[in-house]
Amino acid sequence: MAIEDKIKELLEKRIEARMGGGEKRIASQHAKGKLTARERLDLLLDEGSFEEFDMFVSHRCIDFGLENEAYLSDGVVTGYGTIDGRLVYVFSQDFTVFGGSLSEMYAAKICKIMDMAMKAGAPVIGLNDSGGARIQEGVKSLGGYAEIFQRNILASGVIPQISGIFGPCAGGAVYSPAITDFILMTKDTSYMFVTGPKVVKSVTNEDVTTEELGGASIHNAKSGVSHFACEDDEEQIMIMRKLLSYMPQNNLEDPPRMDCEDPIDRLEDGLNDIIPEHPNKPYDVKDVIHAIVDYGEFLEVQRNFAPNMIVGFARFDGQSVGLVANQPSYLAGVLDISASRKAARFIRFCDAFNIPIVTLVDVPGFLPGTAQEYGGIIIHGAKLLYAYGEATVPKVTVILRKAYGGAYDVMGSKHLRGDINYAWPTAEIAVMGPRGAIEVLYSRELSKKDAEARAQFIGMMEEEYRNKFATPYVAAKYGYIDDVIEPRNSRFRIIRALRSLSTKRDSLPMKKHGNIPL
Ligand code: HXC
Repeated sequence: MAIEDKIKELLEKRIEARMGGGEKRIASQHAKGKLTARERLDLLLDEGSFEEFDMFVSHRCIDFGLENEAYLSDGVVTGYGTIDGRLVYVFSQDFTVFGGSLSEMYAAKICKIMDMAMKAGAPVIGLNDSGGARIQEGVKSLGGYAEIFQRNILASGVIPQISGIFGPCAGGAVYSPAITDFILMTKDTSYMFVTGPKVVKSVTNEDVTTEELGGASIHNAKSGVSHFACEDDEEQIMIMRKLLSYMPQNNLEDPPRMDCEDPIDRLEDGLNDIIPEHPNKPYDVKDVIHAIVDYGEFLEVQRNFAPNMIVGFARFDGQSVGLVANQPSYLAGVLDISASRKAARFIRFCDAFNIPIVTLVDVPGFLPGTAQEYGGIIIHGAKLLYAYGEATVPKVTVILRKAYGGAYDVMGSKHLRGDINYAWPTAEIAVMGPRGAIEVLYSRELSKKDAEARAQFIGMMEEEYRNKFATPYVAAKYGYIDDVIEPRNSRFRIIRALRSLSTKRDSLPMKKHGNIPL
């Protein structure tokens, strides 16, 4: 064959591979409002940066008629490219080929790019859209999944791993995304569950739709499995690119630093009045966050899950930070099981990838009640405590208002290796809120009084308690707070604190790994 013919053959094969399962199936994908595997990669990666591997791979199955049906690439597009000039490894599942189902060779392609990502110290981004294990391949497909899980586990904490869910993700297939650092989903067209609606019906007799069982909104609000619920594939990919901008390439690097033209000493006068006069009146802590971070930009993670705890990424003077904040406008910012789990996982991600943690505290305590106790608030609350205490990245904490009881300890306190701890003059730091304290301390006196006298006594004692204990100055007297700062100056003080900690070194005792209360 002449070289021209050989090149022609190559180009024809490339065209064939790029067509996936064919025009009809591509049209059906578009009709569902979904992009194809390759269109997603085009949007995700910098233009012209994609280098594809294994385009000519096809399956080796000779059962159930598959010996007569094969597609180049075998249902997954893999390779590397750049996002904002930074190297990333990618795989994108192609639903037009056998429903994106995973075969032995398909798994081998994913494993190959994961191994290369580990060697290069670059993030892996997986775009998922698959009917799960390729039924015709049986146990080879199951083995392929486990090979991927094992790599996800070894890569955890070494390179960032991000999963986008763009279609079905069912059965054991959900466990690879579950091990990765962030899961993003598209509303209405993606879903995740361990068993689908039909199995649910046969086992529990429950009638439930795919969307109700495992849609993006459910996983972003109820289960907390998904960190982002996006309007469409395009938005999901845009958020993915943004998310990555806050992360380093791997655990040995620092996150990229951006130029910052937002003045570091910008005073925010509005913050001096943001705390309401009445201690139980709520305000939105996101207003504080937007006021202090660079350009007011905050990428909130798990927005609809446990909204009493806010977590997300922002920058101070161009430096990427993880922000953790109690939200007084939802359940008074109380710590419950979901809030503890949410923040603990986020903090551990930041710590693994050298992202400093800035904590804003306004927390009345842990949520009481049987629902919480039976659900294991002891164990889940301990996760948060553990995550803060274990973290060796720079930790800057500002107590805005309440820091009561165990929640004071947990929320990035000095005692859990908090590096720089500030309080606003409005801070109230004590063992418990005034009301609870009075009822415990004066229970005998109170039991002898009628309702009116009781209310009067409580009011008087509350005032005394608040004046004495519910201030930042007792904590400041013991050095538990490094300074009491003017709210409007918070941005500047946090930036200075972070600058001073930029060379911080801290470590953990030698061990195989800790035993975080899972
Ligand atoms: C082989 C599959 C497939 C699979 C879909 N297809 N899933 N082929 N193995 N798992 C094929 C279909 O035959 C069809 O081929 C094409 O993909 C598109 O599928 P449709 O059913 O037409 O599409 P749709 O109506 O959108 O439904 C999508 C779906 C459904 C909901 C994903 O296909 C489905 O329920 N598939 C089975 C899902 C499943 O049970 N998987 C195993 C899960 S257990 P043609 O030729 O018609 O285009 C598992 C274990 C993992 O994954 C364990 C890891 C530990």
